Amino acid sequence: MTSFQYKKGALHAESVPLGAIAEAVGTPTYVYSQAALTGHFQVLDKAFGESPHLICYSVKANSTLAVLGLFAGMGSGFDIVSGGELARVRQARGDMGKTVFAGVGKTQEEMARALAAGILLFNVESAEELEALDAVGRQAGRRAPFGLRVNPDVDARTHRYISTGLKTSKFGVPFEEAVALYARARKMKGVRALGVDCHIGSQLTRTAPVKAALSKVAGLYAELKAQGHPLEYLDIGGGLGITYADETPPSPQEYARTVLEVVKGTGARLILEPGRSLVGNAGVLLTRVLYRKQAPAKTFVVVDAGMNDLIRPALYEAHHALLPVVKQRGKAVEVDVVGPVCESTDVLARARPLVLPRQGALFAVMSAGAYGMSMASTYNSRPRPAEVLVEGTAWRVVRERERDEDLWRRERA
Ligand code: LLP
Repeated sequence: MTSFQYKKGALHAESVPLGAIAEAVGTPTYVYSQAALTGHFQVLDKAFGESPHLICYSVKANSTLAVLGLFAGMGSGFDIVSGGELARVRQARGDMGKTVFAGVGKTQEEMARALAAGILLFNVESAEELEALDAVGRQAGRRAPFGLRVNPDVDARTHRYISTGLKTSKFGVPFEEAVALYARARKMKGVRALGVDCHIGSQLTRTAPVKAALSKVAGLYAELKAQGHPLEYLDIGGGLGITYADETPPSPQEYARTVLEVVKGTGARLILEPGRSLVGNAGVLLTRVLYRKQAPAKTFVVVDAGMNDLIRPALYEAHHALLPVVKQRGKAVEVDVVGPVCESTDVLARARPLVLPRQGALFAVMSAGAYGMSMASTYNSRPRPAEVLVEGTAWRVVRERERDEDLWRRERA
């Protein structure tokens, strides 16, 4: 589904020309398509059809309140990893009863807050964390519902920085230790086993690792059920990939088929934690060309979006397509598109063939809806970008561009 298309040579988000947004709001600015956000959710939801499932949108991918609010409005649950994300979901009127909490370093204070808020499930990532959750539960006079995040030791075959299901990864408990840990949990008064969880990595473009991991986890679920653990949920994590360049990730239907085939015997309710696949291709980052510059060996195009605004290329060598907001004719030359941040890694695109843009020309950095704004920082004391949500012919600012005074809020000189 693409909601960003050229109409008469001008790139649009749905029916709004991106140039008009840049004129009104300035750059850099993130622009999201509401039709894409809701459409991606509905397609995935439909792919799992009548099989009992709950989509818990992974907040870390894009935690902007307007985005969370849209998903909340469609009945989505949420996958959170911090007290801050819990607060965001609450602020966006998300359903706490459909919220799951993962992460290797939850503090007891965060656990207590989440328990009081009535979340569905804690995804516990170590034996010591389980003991901490037990203490929190006992203190509150309740049993905290939990699932163990197990590490199935499967190579997700994605970038090593976003691969999480290997033995060498910090995530989850070793698969072999899970049964014993559930047995220990049974004797605890502050927890109650409700599920089993795994997440093997992000930007998955193949079904084989998903199948391999889920086969192990479904087997574990059945074994635990047979031992009398009152489990209800099998949380399969997120990770479904998207097309940035020429990747061919499984379609939602193919993904659902793969998953359902493996888990069908368990009778479990599925929890899905998609992030990128819902928001990634629903957003772009608008940026303006400041300068062109010819070095002896290279042509540079300097734009006003830096690695502080979108860190993915610098951090993961990620590829994002760059589309001129006004279609250009002419011969492409190889350029490095760089940002203003004082770091050599502040490169948005390396050796990219582009028609050399004019000064002031606008570009849309494509597929920037996931892990764009949510990972933005103010490094180099650059205020973070504005965000705009488009709906048909209408658009509105859903986050104002930060101002200089936001940079030193809460500082004491
Ligand atoms: N569930 C858990 C437990 C996770 O750790 C993650 C992502 C998700 C769900 C959502 O995964 P998704 O569907 O978005 O792939 N910043 C990196 C990606 C980091 C992913 C972290 N965990 C990037 O920009 O590629």
